[in-house]
Amino acid sequence: MPTRHTPYLLGMLAGVALLAANPAHAATSAANVENGRYLAHAADCEVCHTAEGGTPYAGGRAFNLPGIGVIYSPNITPDKAAGIGAWTDQQFVDAVRKGISPGWKHLYPAMPYPAYARMTDAQVRDMRAYLATLPPSSNKTPANSLKFPFSIRSFMVFWNVLNGPASTYPDDPGKSAEWNRGRYLVEGPGHCGDCHTPRTFSFGLDSSKALGGSVVNGWRAYNLTSDKQSGLGAWTDEELAQYLSTGHADGHGTASGDMADVIGHSLRYLNAQDIHAMVVYLRSIPPLHTAADTVETRTPAAGDATLPQNTRGARLYASACAGCHMPDGTGRQSSFATITGARSLGADNGRNLVQVLVQGSGMQTATGVQIMPHFIGGGLSDHDLADIASFVMTHFTTATPTNMERAVQNARQAP
Ligand code: HEC
Ligand code: HEC
Ligand code: HEC
Repeated sequence: MPTRHTPYLLGMLAGVALLAANPAHAATSAANVENGRYLAHAADCEVCHTAEGGTPYAGGRAFNLPGIGVIYSPNITPDKAAGIGAWTDQQFVDAVRKGISPGWKHLYPAMPYPAYARMTDAQVRDMRAYLATLPPSSNKTPANSLKFPFSIRSFMVFWNVLNGPASTYPDDPGKSAEWNRGRYLVEGPGHCGDCHTPRTFSFGLDSSKALGGSVVNGWRAYNLTSDKQSGLGAWTDEELAQYLSTGHADGHGTASGDMADVIGHSLRYLNAQDIHAMVVYLRSIPPLHTAADTVETRTPAAGDATLPQNTRGARLYASACAGCHMPDGTGRQSSFATITGARSLGADNGRNLVQVLVQGSGMQTATGVQIMPHFIGGGLSDHDLADIASFVMTHFTTATPTNMERAVQNARQAP
């Protein structure tokens, strides 16, 4: 370990020495700022660095890490005291690509720097140029409350040796320009694996199961490999592009939870070529089968009269859900509420279905925010929600609901 560790430290010292000799900022043009804005969208910086209802980029969003504690995202507006206004460009590049903030502060990987390491220094400097155009905010970042030993930042030195950060990699000359661009967007700024790849014992990404599906914040982030049953293998290119650019694909439902944030704050700002490049890359990922993501959906007949009325769950669905989702799962007012064919209707014992009932979901779209309300505190008991979930699972899929009341309680108790 020390032999691998020493050059790393020396490299950092050399970086600090160089810094002192360089001017803080290189000259930036409007094109740099524009590129930086585009990349900041592709990398989804805003969603994590903005508190609920808070000033964009002023930080303060809480990340609950079960068993570890709470981390708050810092203010990255150009305020000189509360934000990053006094940083040099190189300090910013080191934080974003290496996870090292000024003063040897090792960042926790709740900030996806291992993925961002795939961006070049120049690209990260462009993001800095864009952030520098934002209004400064004096919002102070709350102190983290982490349990020992996680409270010791320098432990991250060892984590980094084990788990990255990765680095930029040259384009693969055997592959098309589109594929290379798609790989860059998915593995770099898009950091899709942070949610869609399972973790190892040391909380690094398990590269042998890359994009094979995982659980994050209680939601299932599904298998993105080309497996036909449990991944994206049965989706057409058009469906995948539609989902990534709008958050909805006919026959596959609508993005909820964290994925709704990824679409609403990040992917919907990407141009059509970049969306296509991501589709090309995702298509090339060899199939991995994930049992939890396997579900067989069915399409019920349309029309109110076809909704069965013989169970509590069915009657509750008719009164609480059908006003938006119709008996056959099509959206009454908005196509975003068309849930027919969605994996979430049954996969992993209805995990995301239960999450959406307990937490609700909202997604920014070109035509306003699409809201799926939550059903906690609105007169429905855990037992009622469990009955609704069981009905939805059997009405729209061939899944067998197991102990749904427990699933609802688990989702309610999650931080
Ligand atoms: C998944 C959530 C998430 C995303 C996405 C994210 N960040 Fe962070 N970021 C964090 C958290 C949490 C921290 C604080 C980590 C810590 O305290 O160790 C952080 C820390 C930082 C820091 C260090 C600030 C300081 O005061 O030390 C910078 C700079 C930063 N992020 C910039 C960015 C940029 C630029 C992007 C987009 C390219 C980005 N972040 C995307 C969660 C995120
Ligand atoms: C912060 C976590 C997170 C990140 C980052 C993330 N996803 Fe997701 N993703 C999810 C979750 C959770 C779901 C399930 C959403 C639902 O139930 O509607 C999902 C669903 C999906 C689906 C639908 C799969 C299906 O079978 O229904 C696709 C496609 C997808 N994500 C692609 C991506 C791509 C491409 C990226 C990177 C650009 C990405 N995701 C980044 C959490 C994430
Ligand atoms: C006020 C309208 C409204 C009501 C009432 C409503 N929903 Fe939704 N629902 C939506 C919208 C809009 C979406 C898409 C937005 C999103 O998922 O972020 C959605 C999404 C969903 C999803 C999609 C999950 C996914 O990730 O693919 C499920 C499942 C769902 N609703 C089930 C229900 C159930 C069950 C009920 C009744 C208890 C219900 N909804 C009540 C509007 C509604």
